[in-house]
Amino acid sequence: MAAVALSATTPSHAGEVEVLHWWTSGGEARAAQALRDMITAQGDTWKDYAVAGGGGDNALTALKTRVVSGQPPTAAQIKGPQIQEWGAEGVLANIDAIATDGNWNAVLPPAIASIMKYQGHYVAAPINVHRVNWLWVNPAMLAQAGATVPTTMASFFEAADKLKAAGMLPLAHGGDPMQDATLFESVALGVGGVDFYRKAFIELDAATLSGPTMVAVFDAMQRIKGYIDKGSPGRDWNLGTVMVMNGKAAMQFMGDWAKGEFTAAGKVAGTDYLCVPAPGTAGAFTYNIDSLAMFTQSSPQARSSQAHLATAVMSPEFQTVFNLNKGSIPARIDVPLDRFDACAQQSSADLRAASSAQTLIPSFSHKMAMSPAVEGGIVDVVSRFMHSSLSPKAAAAQLAAAVKAS
Ligand code: BGC
Repeated sequence: MAAVALSATTPSHAGEVEVLHWWTSGGEARAAQALRDMITAQGDTWKDYAVAGGGGDNALTALKTRVVSGQPPTAAQIKGPQIQEWGAEGVLANIDAIATDGNWNAVLPPAIASIMKYQGHYVAAPINVHRVNWLWVNPAMLAQAGATVPTTMASFFEAADKLKAAGMLPLAHGGDPMQDATLFESVALGVGGVDFYRKAFIELDAATLSGPTMVAVFDAMQRIKGYIDKGSPGRDWNLGTVMVMNGKAAMQFMGDWAKGEFTAAGKVAGTDYLCVPAPGTAGAFTYNIDSLAMFTQSSPQARSSQAHLATAVMSPEFQTVFNLNKGSIPARIDVPLDRFDACAQQSSADLRAASSAQTLIPSFSHKMAMSPAVEGGIVDVVSRFMHSSLSPKAAAAQLAAAVKAS
């Protein structure tokens, strides 16, 4: 339907659209295919620039090389504060005219619109809202171990101990910096709560970063190490999701791109697997918004193709199809959710509730809260902690030192 509707307005300046992204897992690739289909249905040519690596660090390194050599792609998956950094480099295109045509200010929550703007001008198009503070659960394994679905950190440890005692692997975790940071972020929120999270990761308050609550967060991480298997280092996040799906591990801390993997495998939320807020974080929502930042193009044809891309990304059809596959919910507020599953419905309701309760917070592990330099410093300490015998106290002290140094 969407393709038919769009081809009726096939543009006169068909050209190439090159998009840098890191959507390479099963669910992610299905979502990316939806964008590709829409672009080609419009008469443009799709040039895929996919760089594998969950969380996107590899992709962003590749992007820098391209931009420095004066050959930016049409658009790249860039998020949060990084949009400001690229804007300050003077390489992003002003797409205000497209945003005005599409009435973006009216259909986007102001908080999302402002992330997409550099100095008051739109330079990026938002795709979705991912929630990071989820726990993915294999209910059959929990039942077999006599464990209940955890809602607090204490009940998480109880369930994990029961699973372990029953000879099952409690947690699917891949030891790479993105996954270590994703786990740490949810545990920090579960142990310390929203105010602590804000003080530590938004205000970057030194006393909070090195204080007793942070030590308690690392204590919890220490305990969690005992629920992870030896095969963890280097395992991709999506293989962790497959372990939960196949009964090889009972739970996974991961954002709802994990749901894209369950969906791609034909699994049904609420039956085959459960999505529940990460333990102790039910009232809060850590958001991660995917967006495509538009790079300045020199030829009129390239600019025209870029305009088609930005318009397509913000179309209700695209925001529906992409996010059905991706596990996220649309960024636009006017897209009906009736085709979306129970996890997406819950995400949307929780997002609204968190927004009124002021417990809506940016995910730092997915590049929404702080500059890349500060984020890099924090993630290095978390990863070092996960892969060494660093004590919780020393890790908290190193966290404050890393933030100070960056
Ligand atoms: C991105 C998602 C992606 C995930 C895993 C996140 O940072 O926002 O779009 O699916 O990383 O690669």
